[in-house]
Amino acid sequence: MSSEIQLKHDSSSWIARSLASVWHPCTQMQHHEQVPLIAVSHGKGAWLYDHEGRRYLDAISSWWVNLFGHANPRINAALKDQLDKLEHAMLAGFTHEPVIELSEQLAALTGHALGHAFYASDGASAVEIALKMSYHYWRNAGFPNKSEFVCLQGSYHGETVGALAVTDVALFKEAYGPMVRSAHVVASPDARNAHEGESSQDVARRAADDLERLFEQRADRIAALIVEPLVQGAAGMAMYDRVYLEMVRELCNRYHVHLVADEIAVGCGRTGTFFACEQAGIWPDFICLSKGISGGYLPLSLVLTTDRVYEGFYSEDVRRGFLHSHSYTGNPLACRAALATLQIFREDDVLNRNRERATKLVTALAPLAEHERTRHFRQRGMIFAFDAVEPDPQRASTFSRRFFTAATENELLLRPIGRSVYLMPPYVLDDGEIALLAERTRRVFEQVIAG
Ligand SMILES: Cc1ncc(COP(=O)(O)O)c(C=O)c1O
Repeated sequence: MSSEIQLKHDSSSWIARSLASVWHPCTQMQHHEQVPLIAVSHGKGAWLYDHEGRRYLDAISSWWVNLFGHANPRINAALKDQLDKLEHAMLAGFTHEPVIELSEQLAALTGHALGHAFYASDGASAVEIALKMSYHYWRNAGFPNKSEFVCLQGSYHGETVGALAVTDVALFKEAYGPMVRSAHVVASPDARNAHEGESSQDVARRAADDLERLFEQRADRIAALIVEPLVQGAAGMAMYDRVYLEMVRELCNRYHVHLVADEIAVGCGRTGTFFACEQAGIWPDFICLSKGISGGYLPLSLVLTTDRVYEGFYSEDVRRGFLHSHSYTGNPLACRAALATLQIFREDDVLNRNRERATKLVTALAPLAEHERTRHFRQRGMIFAFDAVEPDPQRASTFSRRFFTAATENELLLRPIGRSVYLMPPYVLDDGEIALLAERTRRVFEQVIAG
């Protein structure tokens, strides 16, 4: 049997075994009767390879997590070194070098404005922690009525029951309505909401006014506002003006409401600065980080918060403490991957080099930005998006799946959100890969709107 045949056999059997035993995330499993699974054999740089040797440019960084490519030699080396020292130890009553160094470095990145790091594993857990901490802080401070939360229209903060409460995506939430606590949903500053003659700043001001009206009526009951700074990812990479963040920071101060910045998707340089909030010159009361912080290697999430919040829990009374935990809190391997990630940021001048990459990609994507069947081409840092015009409702409803399939046939991993096509590539693309990505995205788009 030739090795080629052997490989083919491998791929189909992996797929069959996966479909029989793995329940895949965010998937109507029946769709795999038409859309084949792809069994990944290995990854290198920006590319994933299947068992037949076909390759896919991972243009969405495997759900927005990968920063420096697959099988990155520096992160690999750090993990191998850590493996021989300590794979895991519980963090209650014990501590270790990787978690200490990571916490110190993250605190320094906030200029020590948020100097206390609490760890978990997935993004949604970090959101749960921020919400619980906010409520518990107010309770400890003598304001137990401050138990409500505010989120933005189209917001996405994860799938666990608490995070779903501040998520405004009907498709993910509807089925669980009776289980989920309701939150206040205020206007989104999404620049695409501009009325005739309005600027993105006008939209942001209008949205902030909506929040202020709610605060006027109910701030005494509200613990926190949670936002995805600058870009609402699951809303289809909805981008908005930074003035919104300046205004909501001021409103939260004035009405004594916490501001939670969910930087799970937009942190770690994704919008052009390490934290998206930096672009507005503000610090929130809580920052949630996950995804890219471990370079896309291991599940790691954390919440950074201020001295003020931390001190609100510091007491002789155990019940005033934050008695939340996860088994893998502060896992040393995950923290070590994060330290290697931060080291690459420092050594490779990543943010500046991404600026050059982004300029090149915007230029290469110009034919799509100007295409008669696209609207709202937008870019912030290393996030690029546009909306497809698809007047036929039937075709519009299948646009994303058709695009995904056509993309894989053209060596791209792209997964539009509805009709919003976005690129969120790892920070390693060279000029050839930038050209290929732009050219193939255009080709796929033409195929999908024509066929
Ligand atoms: C802004 C935001 N918050 C929270 C989450 C949830 O993170 P996780 O999927 O790791 O639970 C996501 C995931 O996409 C996200 O984009």
